[in-house]
Amino acid sequence: MKLLSILSIGVATVAAVPNAPVLPRASNSSNATPNFGYAKLYRLQEAFYEKFMYPNNAKEAASINSTAFSEDVLGRVSDTRDFVGRELNTEYIFGLFIPTDSISIIGQPYSYEIMQFTANQNIASASTRVNFTFPSFGNISLPVTIDTWITWNEAEEITQYDVTFRWFAYLLQTLLLGLAPGNSTLAMERATMALASSVCNAHTSYCNGTNAQYESRDDCMQFLTQEIRFGQAFELGMNTLGCRSIHEIMLKYRPDVHCPHIGKSGGGMCDDTMGYVEKVTENFFKNSPWVPTMQ
Ligand SMILES: *[C@@H]1O[C@H](CO)[C@@H](O)[C@H](O)[C@H]1NC(C)=O
Ligand SMILES: *[C@@H]1O[C@H](CO)[C@@H](O)[C@H](O)[C@H]1NC(C)=O
Ligand SMILES: *[C@@H]1O[C@H](CO)[C@@H](O)[C@H](O)[C@H]1NC(C)=O
Ligand SMILES: *[C@@H]1O[C@H](CO)[C@@H](O)[C@H](O)[C@H]1NC(C)=O
Ligand SMILES: *[C@@H]1O[C@H](CO)[C@@H](O)[C@H](O)[C@H]1NC(C)=O
Ligand SMILES: *[C@@H]1O[C@H](CO)[C@@H](O)[C@H](O)[C@H]1NC(C)=O
Repeated sequence: MKLLSILSIGVATVAAVPNAPVLPRASNSSNATPNFGYAKLYRLQEAFYEKFMYPNNAKEAASINSTAFSEDVLGRVSDTRDFVGRELNTEYIFGLFIPTDSISIIGQPYSYEIMQFTANQNIASASTRVNFTFPSFGNISLPVTIDTWITWNEAEEITQYDVTFRWFAYLLQTLLLGLAPGNSTLAMERATMALASSVCNAHTSYCNGTNAQYESRDDCMQFLTQEIRFGQAFELGMNTLGCRSIHEIMLKYRPDVHCPHIGKSGGGMCDDTMGYVEKVTENFFKNSPWVPTMQ
């Protein structure tokens, strides 16, 4: 692996030497696998995190289709679901982590530090410690470690990302128990009421006409607090209040796309159709190999 990255940095020199192995030349199509070399990949990783920081992320979100992503980008975020295409990923990656009127476990990223990094060809793997503020939790500031695998195309657009929020269960518990230190029952009651009220208010504001999911605000509160579970940390892509709370933030962008996600069916984002084995064995990524070519 190490040899390959040296080779890719030195490719121009190597190619000039007679009889040296000729590496395949990348075309500019989005499916080609470019060979950026280590230093360039580090800069691409940093460029992504610069855009992810608030308020830069608000600018990306406002662009609707961020050029950080390829048109056909495929993204997966641990403990939620898969996200296909540039517009949806602009909403979920840049539009989610900006200030909102909602009561939410989502915070705003304000600084980052890349702690672990390796890269080869068009692939980078990194652990990044990102500091967030959480406005719904007394605006507490907490560090979050985000592990990423990312691939880029020749145009330096992200074609795939696979993201894990490390120690997310511990983070969620830290936030929730802060609502009633020493009494987890009370903390969960408070969290349930606060998140459900927020989702139902947003439903009233954004999901009218054919986008409506509930008959009334009472119907909405009844469903979210009595008929489904709050959900554990790994259930943000399942039939839970926690899942609907994440998707609530997206309603303002495209109600027709996102209202079903907070409704009773979950709209393909918040349901229990994906079992553990399916989650682990899912064959989702198709735009670029995750394992560099052996040469
Ligand atoms: C690919 O794009 C680069 C930069 O835009 C350009 O310099 C190069 O000529 C292009 N290569 C091909 C094969 O089109
Ligand atoms: C964003 O991209 C989608 C998909 O290509 C397209 O349908 C939509 O019109 C674009 N929106 C804007 C504002 O560019
Ligand atoms: C993030 O916050 C921690 C304390 O929680 C602090 O020690 C650290 O310096 C901060 N890092 C950055 C990059 O701001
Ligand atoms: C939360 O803290 C951040 C950083 O200290 C600050 O910029 C922001 O205004 C605060 N937000 C609220 C709602 O107090
Ligand atoms: C914790 O909160 C619950 C629910 O509000 C309450 O019934 C219980 O008495 C509280 N327990 C303690 C130890 O305060
Ligand atoms: C929701 O209400 C807005 C503002 O009155 C209206 O423009 C929009 O067409 C309505 N949406 C639906 C799906 O009925």
